[in-house]
This record gives sequence, C-alpha cells and structure tokens, in this order.
Amino acid sequence: MMRLEGIEVWYGKIMAVSEISLEVNKGEIVGLIGPNGAGKTTILNSVIGVIKPRKGEIVFENEKINDLQTHEIIKKGIAIAPEGRKLFPFLTVEENLLMGAINGEAWKKKSENLRFVYSLFPRLSERRAQLAGTLSGGEQQMLTIGRALMSKPKLLLVDEPSLGLAPKVAMEIYRLLQKLREEGVTILLSDQNAKRVFEISDRAYVVENGRIVMQGKSSELEKDERIRKVYLGL
Ligand SMILES: Nc1ncnc2c1ncn2[C@@H]1O[C@H](COP(=O)(O)OP(=O)(O)OP(=O)(O)O)[C@@H](O)[C@H]1O
Ligand SMILES: [Mg+2]
Repeated sequence: MMRLEGIEVWYGKIMAVSEISLEVNKGEIVGLIGPNGAGKTTILNSVIGVIKPRKGEIVFENEKINDLQTHEIIKKGIAIAPEGRKLFPFLTVEENLLMGAINGEAWKKKSENLRFVYSLFPRLSERRAQLAGTLSGGEQQMLTIGRALMSKPKLLLVDEPSLGLAPKVAMEIYRLLQKLREEGVTILLSDQNAKRVFEISDRAYVVENGRIVMQGKSSELEKDERIRKVYLGL
C-alpha cells in the first residue's frame, strides 16, 4: 500500500534520517519504535508531506506522492494523528472533528463520517459539545484519532498515542487501534513503548539515530536478545 525508498531528511544543516526504506501492506498494523530523537516523527511527517525529504521516494498505491502537498496526500487516503495531539482547545469536540474534514470530498461526507467516529468513540459522542481543552488525556487522544478518521483514510499514521497516558488508558487507546484495523484501516504506528507496539503490530521497524537498524515480524523481534534488553527491560 505504501512504500518509502531511501528517504533522507535534513533540518537545515542537520541530517535527521537517512536510508529509510519501509513498507506497509494493506490491512497491517506496522510499528515504528526507537528512542527519543531517533526519527520516528520525521518519518511520519515525511509520509504526510509536512516535511519534504531531500532524497528518496514515497509511493502510495503505486503513485509517487513526494511532490504532493499535505492536503493532496490526505485526499489520496492518508491521515495523521500527530504527536502531541495538536487539538484546538477552545473549540468543541465536534468542531475539532470537523477540522479533519475540511478537505474537499470529506466535507460532503462529514455527517456520515461523524457517525462513524461517534460509533467508534461513544465517549466523544457524549462530549460532542465540550471544549477539547477540558477533555482528559485519553479522551484528547481519542479525539486526535477521530479527527484523522474524518477524511476516511485508508492509511492512518499514529504518532506516540500513549504519550503521557496512564497504562490503563493507553491500553484502551491501543484496543481502539485494533478495532480500527478490523474496520479496514491500515495503520503505521510510532511509539517509544515497544512492548505495546509489539502486542498489536504485525511487523515493526526499529529506528535509531535516523536509521532503521532492525526490522521483522513483531512476534520475532520481541524475542530478540538486544530488543529484550534495550527496549523491553528484560
Ligand atoms: N524542526 C526541527 N528542526 C531541527 N531539528 C529537528 C526538527 N525536528 C526534529 N529534529 C531533529 O531530528 C531528529 C529526529 O527527531 P524526531 O522528532 O523525528 O524523533 P522521534 O523519534 O520522533 O523522537 P520522540 O520519540 O522524542 O518523539 C532529532 O535529532 C531532532 O532533534
Ligand atoms: Mg516523535
């Protein structure tokens, strides 16, 4: 469904990631794990066109999307639930959701997509008139994912969804991602918490210092000696 080939991203004079090649197949949950500053967000932001790689190709459904702008990439069927949530705190839950649908076709289907999001997240439905800034952390994360779903993406990028959440709440978010996959959404998920990523992903890539240093089936990676030591604390 989506493929990165030899992506290299620079911020000014600093190279953040290089030689990043990865693929996501339809129906998969693919994990990106790695420590602070490894380059996970940079990779996801490249896919959605927020950052333009200096080298490499980004291919989505057999079409090169490097040169498209973010709103055009969203129209093709990719959306992002960004790191740090980036909600509009003084807008209501429903207004925040509608922000995810301001893009062309999605606006025409906003009622249908709102129903879809509310059916997935009954808590958001109950709180549709509440200001986003007054939601709990877990609810804000649900809203971030819900907003991304308002453009009916085929591929959803989720960046650090469990950041700052209590373990129980993080588990709830992860269960929702599993449910989303059952609904037919393909997911590329970044999280520092490798244990959680392994639990729900089919495959994963390990990013360190801007490079992919390991990749494979999650069930196999979690048995790897070095992964167990460095990422699972075992
Ligand atoms: N806007 C920016 N300007 C300059 N350097 C940046 C910028 N954004 C990221 N970087 C650098 O690029 C590298 C990769 O950062 P990135 O945010 O992609 O890592 P990450 O894996 O998402 O980390 P975290 O787990 O902390 O979210 C880091 O060295 C970071 O300092
Ligand atoms: Mg990040």
